[in-house]
Amino acid sequence: MSINKAGARAKTTEMRVLVIDDEADIRELLDLTLARMGLSADCAGSVAEAKAFLARERYHLCLTDMRLPDGDGLEIVRLIGSDYGATPVAVITAFGSTDNAVSALKAGAFDYLSKPVALDQLRTLVKSALNLSAEPAGGGASEKKTAGGTLLIGESPAMLAVREMIDKVGRSQAPVYVSGESGSGKELAARSIHAQSARHAAPFVPVNCGAIPENLMESEFFGYRKGAFTGADSDREGFFQAANGGTLFLDEVADLPLAMQVKLLRAIQEKKVRKVGSAVEEPVDVRIISATHRQLKDCVDAGTFRQDLYYRLNVIELHMPALRERQEDIPILVDATLKRLCGDNPPSLSPEARQALAAYAYPGNVRELENILERATALCIDGKIALEDLQLSETGIEGVVDAGGTLDDQVNRFERQLILDALVKTGDNRTAAARLLGVTFRSLRYRIERLGIDT
Ligand SMILES: Nc1ncnc2c1ncn2[C@@H]1O[C@H](COP(=O)(O)OP(=O)(O)OP(=O)(O)O)[C@@H](O)[C@H]1O
Ligand SMILES: [Mg+2]
Repeated sequence: MSINKAGARAKTTEMRVLVIDDEADIRELLDLTLARMGLSADCAGSVAEAKAFLARERYHLCLTDMRLPDGDGLEIVRLIGSDYGATPVAVITAFGSTDNAVSALKAGAFDYLSKPVALDQLRTLVKSALNLSAEPAGGGASEKKTAGGTLLIGESPAMLAVREMIDKVGRSQAPVYVSGESGSGKELAARSIHAQSARHAAPFVPVNCGAIPENLMESEFFGYRKGAFTGADSDREGFFQAANGGTLFLDEVADLPLAMQVKLLRAIQEKKVRKVGSAVEEPVDVRIISATHRQLKDCVDAGTFRQDLYYRLNVIELHMPALRERQEDIPILVDATLKRLCGDNPPSLSPEARQALAAYAYPGNVRELENILERATALCIDGKIALEDLQLSETGIEGVVDAGGTLDDQVNRFERQLILDALVKTGDNRTAAARLLGVTFRSLRYRIERLGIDT
């Protein structure tokens, strides 16, 4: 931490901030606070003035009010996003206007502050933003890109899109909701976002919301004061304090009881928490990433998940594709996993085993692939993995149905799996596979194309 601070201070001489607010008092307050941090600021009172400053000077941070006489803060967020991409923008929103904060984050704002501006929060925000700006646009940033990116293996278009999104959201503080089936890499994606962000030197704290007993939840999340309850014989920090400056990963967030959802919403909105048994709130600087293998929206519709918290968490959604939707990644994942399990001398796969792995539907996604290979390496003889060592179920149909989704999704998956099974059984002979399935060759070819099956 001290290295970061020193680094930021050393660079502050040439760091400039653009402040945009139509109220002279607020401009002055911000200017003064920034000056005390060793930063110089230009102050604009309107969108037009801001545009003129932006055209003249390069800024390391922009702080803008939401409501301006000739436009709004979102316009500034969008303009900077499109024309001055390297500059983080934070918006200042009116007290209690949650919607504004969420739309600014969605538009690409780095973070937000609510009025009246709390100076400690302002300083924290400025430091994070400058950490981000301090990274050189060339070498350093791309080096980190690889570091975060390599956590997630895969070169399919779907995976490239995921990595691109991770790069993008790494540059903001906005909450991210990671969706996707079980084993599809949600936690790995959350870790990648953290590794990619200005917060990477601070902790990543994963919390399995479904695993905490309800009566301990508040003290686990927010900590407690000595004497708060029987057994509390010293002060203790909670997850929020542990993640201060870093990222809190709320896994299986749909499992939070409603009472806890209210408290969590408050903590996120106010950026403050109160320890159990304490009278005072303490500020926390935590980025929230959440995930569940369920459809969070369905939980909202069913009344088990608060809508306001849903909007707060789901500012940016990152969807992790199922492995069967990116089958071209299977060979790379297989090789990487074998290497991880066995080092430099991994067992070889028979052609049939390779083919079967490439065609399997993986209802349990990457985790299932890893388990299959782990079992196979234990079972195989002479460093050669044969088809039997994989112990794949005869058809993947059960898992295909269990994986859920709309009727069309399920029917497509079902169809896809039947075709893949037929291709495996016939050694990729489409004529034989069509016969096995009782359809014409043309019909099979059409279905293969429609379902995007890669053979
Ligand atoms: N793209 C990927 N590249 C490499 N490994 C991956 C990838 N996706 C997932 N994995 C590996 O698969 C396993 C499961 O990943 P992870 O725990 O992130 O999934 P999850 O979506 O959080 O699963 P669950 O819903 O069960 O919690 C881990 O061992 C992870 O390292
Ligand atoms: Mg997980």
